[in-house]
Amino acid sequence: MIPDVSRVDTLISAERIQARVAELGARISADYGDKDITLVGILKGSVPFLSDLMRAITSPLQIDFLELSSYAGGLQSTGAVRLMKDLAHPIEDKHVMIVEDIVDTGLTLRHLLEMFATRGPASLAICTLLDKPSGRAPGEELTIDYTGFTIANHFVVGYGLDLGGYFRNLPHVGVYHPPTDDR
Ligand code: IMP
Ligand code: MG
Repeated sequence: MIPDVSRVDTLISAERIQARVAELGARISADYGDKDITLVGILKGSVPFLSDLMRAITSPLQIDFLELSSYAGGLQSTGAVRLMKDLAHPIEDKHVMIVEDIVDTGLTLRHLLEMFATRGPASLAICTLLDKPSGRAPGEELTIDYTGFTIANHFVVGYGLDLGGYFRNLPHVGVYHPPTDDR
Protein backbone atom coordinates (compact mmCIF):
# COMPACT_ATOMS: atom_id res chain seq x y z
CA MET A 1 0.00 0.00 0.00
CA ILE A 2 1.21 3.49 -0.80
CA PRO A 3 1.37 5.58 2.40
CA ASP A 4 -0.32 8.99 2.45
CA VAL A 5 2.07 11.92 2.04
CA SER A 6 -0.41 14.20 3.85
CA ARG A 7 0.51 12.32 7.05
CA VAL A 8 4.06 13.69 6.81
CA ASP A 9 4.76 16.92 8.74
CA THR A 10 7.95 18.72 7.77
CA LEU A 11 10.59 18.56 10.49
CA ILE A 12 13.65 19.72 8.53
CA SER A 13 13.13 21.71 5.34
CA ALA A 14 15.02 21.03 2.13
CA GLU A 15 16.76 24.41 2.53
CA ARG A 16 18.02 23.56 6.03
CA ILE A 17 19.25 20.18 4.81
CA GLN A 18 21.13 21.71 1.90
CA ALA A 19 22.74 24.36 4.15
CA ARG A 20 23.82 21.73 6.66
CA VAL A 21 25.19 19.40 3.98
CA ALA A 22 27.33 22.28 2.69
CA GLU A 23 28.69 22.83 6.22
CA LEU A 24 29.45 19.14 6.69
CA GLY A 25 31.19 18.98 3.31
CA ALA A 26 33.35 21.98 4.20
CA ARG A 27 34.30 20.46 7.57
CA ILE A 28 35.13 17.08 6.05
CA SER A 29 37.22 18.74 3.32
CA ALA A 30 39.13 20.75 5.95
CA ASP A 31 39.67 17.67 8.14
CA TYR A 32 40.81 15.33 5.34
CA GLY A 33 42.62 17.80 3.07
CA ASP A 34 44.31 15.82 0.26
CA LYS A 35 43.61 12.43 1.82
CA ASP A 36 41.89 9.96 -0.46
CA ILE A 37 38.43 9.25 1.01
CA THR A 38 36.17 6.29 0.34
CA LEU A 39 32.58 7.24 1.07
CA VAL A 40 30.57 4.13 1.85
CA GLY A 41 26.87 4.73 1.40
CA ILE A 42 24.50 2.43 3.21
CA LEU A 43 21.76 1.55 0.76
CA LYS A 44 19.20 2.67 0.21
CA GLY A 45 18.56 5.42 2.73
CA SER A 46 21.86 7.28 2.30
CA VAL A 47 21.51 7.84 -1.45
CA PRO A 48 20.23 11.48 -1.50
CA PHE A 49 22.52 12.48 1.38
CA LEU A 50 25.60 10.86 -0.15
CA SER A 51 24.81 12.33 -3.52
CA ASP A 52 24.66 15.88 -2.11
CA LEU A 53 27.47 15.41 0.41
CA MET A 54 30.01 14.10 -2.12
CA ARG A 55 29.55 17.25 -4.21
CA ALA A 56 30.21 19.40 -1.12
CA ILE A 57 33.57 17.68 -0.45
CA THR A 58 36.70 18.94 -2.21
CA SER A 59 39.06 16.15 -1.06
CA PRO A 60 39.72 13.36 -3.58
CA LEU A 61 37.16 10.63 -3.07
CA GLN A 62 35.64 7.44 -4.35
CA ILE A 63 32.27 5.97 -3.46
CA ASP A 64 31.09 2.46 -2.75
CA PHE A 65 27.86 1.00 -1.42
CA LEU A 66 26.73 -1.65 0.97
CA GLU A 67 23.23 -2.82 1.70
CA LEU A 68 22.02 -3.91 5.09
CA SER A 69 18.61 -4.65 6.36
CA SER A 70 17.57 -4.11 9.95
CA TYR A 71 13.93 -3.13 9.48
CA ALA A 72 11.25 -5.46 8.18
CA GLY A 73 9.66 -2.46 6.45
CA GLY A 74 7.82 -1.22 9.53
CA LEU A 75 8.20 1.41 12.22
CA GLN A 76 10.18 -0.68 14.72
CA SER A 77 13.71 -2.07 14.43
CA THR A 78 13.91 -5.84 14.53
CA GLY A 79 17.40 -5.65 16.03
CA ALA A 80 18.83 -8.16 13.56
CA VAL A 81 21.18 -6.81 10.89
CA ARG A 82 21.54 -8.70 7.62
CA LEU A 83 24.17 -8.04 4.93
CA MET A 84 22.30 -7.89 1.63
CA LYS A 85 25.10 -6.53 -0.57
CA ASP A 86 28.80 -6.14 0.25
CA LEU A 87 31.20 -3.46 -1.02
CA ALA A 88 32.50 -3.82 -4.57
CA HIS A 89 36.10 -2.91 -3.59
CA PRO A 90 38.55 -3.65 -0.76
CA ILE A 91 38.95 -0.88 1.85
CA GLU A 92 42.41 -1.88 3.07
CA ASP A 93 44.52 1.27 3.69
CA LYS A 94 41.61 3.49 2.69
CA HIS A 95 40.21 6.41 4.65
CA VAL A 96 36.70 5.10 4.96
CA MET A 97 33.71 7.23 5.86
CA ILE A 98 30.42 5.45 6.42
CA VAL A 99 27.51 7.59 5.25
CA GLU A 100 24.18 6.83 6.94
CA ASP A 101 20.73 8.35 6.83
CA ILE A 102 19.99 7.93 10.53
CA VAL A 103 21.43 6.34 13.65
CA ASP A 104 18.76 4.97 15.96
CA THR A 105 19.64 1.93 18.12
CA GLY A 106 23.19 2.05 16.73
CA LEU A 107 23.11 -1.70 16.01
CA THR A 108 23.58 -1.25 12.26
CA LEU A 109 26.69 0.87 12.72
CA ARG A 110 28.10 -1.32 15.48
CA HIS A 111 27.80 -4.30 13.13
CA LEU A 112 29.47 -2.37 10.31
CA LEU A 113 32.31 -1.00 12.43
CA GLU A 114 33.16 -4.52 13.59
CA MET A 115 32.99 -5.87 10.05
CA PHE A 116 35.14 -3.08 8.58
CA ALA A 117 37.70 -3.17 11.39
CA THR A 118 38.78 -6.63 10.19
CA ARG A 119 39.48 -5.26 6.68
CA GLY A 120 42.34 -2.96 7.69
CA PRO A 121 41.20 0.54 6.66
CA ALA A 122 43.64 3.42 7.25
CA SER A 123 40.85 5.17 9.18
CA LEU A 124 37.16 4.73 9.79
CA ALA A 125 34.68 7.55 10.37
CA ILE A 126 30.93 7.90 10.55
CA CYS A 127 28.84 10.62 8.95
CA THR A 128 25.10 10.57 9.50
CA LEU A 129 22.40 12.96 8.36
CA LEU A 130 20.30 12.33 11.47
CA ASP A 131 20.98 11.09 14.97
CA LYS A 132 18.22 9.85 17.28
CA PRO A 133 20.22 9.39 20.51
CA SER A 134 17.10 8.49 22.53
CA GLY A 135 16.78 5.30 20.47
CA ARG A 136 20.22 3.95 21.36
CA ALA A 137 20.37 0.32 22.51
CA PRO A 138 21.32 -0.07 26.21
CA GLY A 139 25.08 0.35 26.69
CA GLU A 140 25.65 1.36 23.07
CA GLU A 141 28.22 4.17 23.02
CA LEU A 142 28.87 4.99 19.39
CA THR A 143 31.10 7.89 18.45
CA ILE A 144 29.65 9.70 15.47
CA ASP A 145 32.19 11.94 13.74
CA TYR A 146 29.83 14.05 11.64
CA THR A 147 26.13 14.59 12.39
CA GLY A 148 23.72 16.67 10.34
CA PHE A 149 20.88 17.01 12.83
CA THR A 150 20.05 15.50 16.20
CA ILE A 151 16.34 14.73 16.48
CA ALA A 152 13.87 13.52 19.10
CA ASN A 153 12.34 10.06 19.05
CA HIS A 154 10.13 10.45 15.96
CA PHE A 155 9.66 8.11 13.04
CA VAL A 156 10.89 10.26 10.17
CA VAL A 157 10.73 9.90 6.41
CA GLY A 158 12.05 11.75 3.38
CA TYR A 159 15.46 12.60 1.89
CA GLY A 160 16.28 8.89 1.72
CA LEU A 161 14.35 7.73 4.78
CA ASP A 162 11.45 5.46 3.98
CA LEU A 163 8.28 3.87 5.17
CA GLY A 164 7.86 0.55 3.39
CA GLY A 165 10.14 1.84 0.64
CA TYR A 166 8.17 5.05 0.02
CA PHE A 167 8.93 8.72 0.74
CA ARG A 168 12.67 8.48 -0.02
CA ASN A 169 12.17 11.06 -2.77
CA LEU A 170 10.87 13.85 -0.51
CA PRO A 171 13.39 16.74 -0.52
CA HIS A 172 12.72 17.39 3.18
CA VAL A 173 12.61 15.24 6.32
CA GLY A 174 9.24 14.90 8.03
CA VAL A 175 7.51 13.10 10.87
CA TYR A 176 5.14 10.39 9.72
CA HIS A 177 1.89 10.13 11.72
CA PRO A 178 0.35 6.65 11.41
CA PRO A 179 -3.43 6.52 10.77
CA THR A 180 -4.07 5.59 14.44
CA ASP A 181 -2.83 9.10 15.40
CA ASP A 182 -5.59 11.59 16.15
CA ARG A 183 -5.54 14.10 13.29
P1 IMP B 1 19.72 1.39 13.87
O1 IMP B 1 20.44 0.12 13.53
O2 IMP B 1 18.63 1.16 14.88
O3 IMP B 1 20.66 2.50 14.31
O4 IMP B 1 18.91 1.85 12.62
C1 IMP B 1 19.47 2.35 11.52
C2 IMP B 1 18.54 2.16 10.34
O5 IMP B 1 17.17 2.03 10.73
C3 IMP B 1 18.62 3.37 9.47
O6 IMP B 1 19.62 3.22 8.49
C4 IMP B 1 17.23 3.42 8.87
O7 IMP B 1 17.20 2.63 7.71
C5 IMP B 1 16.34 2.79 9.90
N1 IMP B 1 15.62 3.82 10.70
C6 IMP B 1 15.83 4.16 11.99
N2 IMP B 1 15.01 5.14 12.39
C7 IMP B 1 14.25 5.44 11.31
C8 IMP B 1 13.20 6.41 11.07
O8 IMP B 1 12.80 7.21 11.94
N3 IMP B 1 12.67 6.42 9.82
C9 IMP B 1 13.08 5.57 8.83
N4 IMP B 1 14.06 4.67 9.00
C10 IMP B 1 14.64 4.60 10.24
MG1 MG C 1 18.92 2.46 6.49
